[in-house]
Amino acid sequence: MEHNNEENYIKVIAKLINVIIILLIVVVILIVINITGLPSSKENAEIKFIPKTKTPETVTENAASDLWMAPDTSLIKKESNSELIIYGRELIAHTSVYLGVKGKIKNLSNGMNCQNCHLEAGTKPFGNNYSGVASTYPKFRERSGSIESIYKRVNDCFERSLNGNALHTSSKEMQAITAYIKWLGKDVPKGEKPKGAGLTELAYLDRAADPQKGKEVYSFKCKSCHGINGEGKLNADGLGYQYPPLWGDRSYNNGAGLYRLSRFAGYVKSNMPYGTNGESPNLTDEQAWDVAAFVNSQPRPKKDLSNDWPKIAGKPVDHPFGPYADKFNEQQHKYGPFKEIAELKKNASTSSATKK
Ligand code: HEC
Ligand code: HEC
Repeated sequence: MEHNNEENYIKVIAKLINVIIILLIVVVILIVINITGLPSSKENAEIKFIPKTKTPETVTENAASDLWMAPDTSLIKKESNSELIIYGRELIAHTSVYLGVKGKIKNLSNGMNCQNCHLEAGTKPFGNNYSGVASTYPKFRERSGSIESIYKRVNDCFERSLNGNALHTSSKEMQAITAYIKWLGKDVPKGEKPKGAGLTELAYLDRAADPQKGKEVYSFKCKSCHGINGEGKLNADGLGYQYPPLWGDRSYNNGAGLYRLSRFAGYVKSNMPYGTNGESPNLTDEQAWDVAAFVNSQPRPKKDLSNDWPKIAGKPVDHPFGPYADKFNEQQHKYGPFKEIAELKKNASTSSATKK
């Protein structure tokens, strides 16, 4: 009798211990899920690719604004070249992994990603998206003085924005990138640029943009991510950037679009600090122009630009290198004031149009 009771007692204890162990395991699993699933904070924000694409929910949600929205990416698989399109999107989002300094395929660029400047894989309204590319290329561009294909335009960014080398037109990578860009713009009518395409066009200031004031903006609003020397922050694996560089050896070169103040200011106004969108900007226009002036007065790689702008009258108002068709100097073409240059340019083109 005594013996039996003791046995029962031990059995109950054993069961209790089992239950406790199971409970402990459940708690540990819950904690692990919670930690890894937590929304990333500013510090460890591995930049995720979460484009807002056309799904039944977002279409009604965005029905009020007529901003362009990328097609639903889950429909890519219906395309006959779906694999190529998906690879293209991956190359845009993680260019450095494939084509960067230690790229899996080739080393032909500086470690930046196309997505650093063409946000959310080229789908974000006013985030330099690709909505108007398929519909408007091939087109004549003054910079090269020729009719450019999408291939040429993509390689422009490889050679300037990624300070690297061109991809072969027939390479799988170039075919993939252009397949994706064409897929994104497939619903845009020929010749049109939808609302929210490309970059925000900011009004010119009455004064020149001021690098000194821009330095203050940089310290308050940009330095925490892009670094005290604009060097950005590499990912732990060293393959790409968590925060891309804004100047120095690994940044875009002096022939890149962002080296023009209007492009930089328009990009930053609608997209920076990271997380800003076109509808609720964080910077005033003045801050955007001034920080553009500061960043673009810092050192960066140089490209041979001697073949650019074969017709100097075709140079944009804010092209920072002479010679020019007007009387304004490089300083003013770089920092402004731009209004009087733009006025003169407008008059010149209307008078030459009436002469014809
Ligand atoms: C450092 C920033 C930056 C990076 C990185 C970058 N681009 Fe660009 N890209 C620009 C800017 C600026 C423009 C011109 C926008 C404008 O003038 O409205 C542009 C324009 C383009 C255009 C033409 C868009 C249009 O609507 O006409 C294409 C296509 C393009 N880029 C592709 C790429 C590809 C592909 C990559 C990666 C290999 C890339 N870009 C990387 C800044 C960048
Ligand atoms: C919270 C961090 C953060 C802050 C603050 C921030 N940025 Fe960025 N910035 C980023 C990230 C991340 C990217 C790349 C986005 C991507 O790849 O999706 C980026 C990209 C850029 C780019 C294009 C890529 C390049 O390196 O040339 C420019 C230009 C830029 N930022 C300028 C600024 C300026 C100017 C400010 C201050 C007004 C600023 N950023 C503030 C995180 C930040």
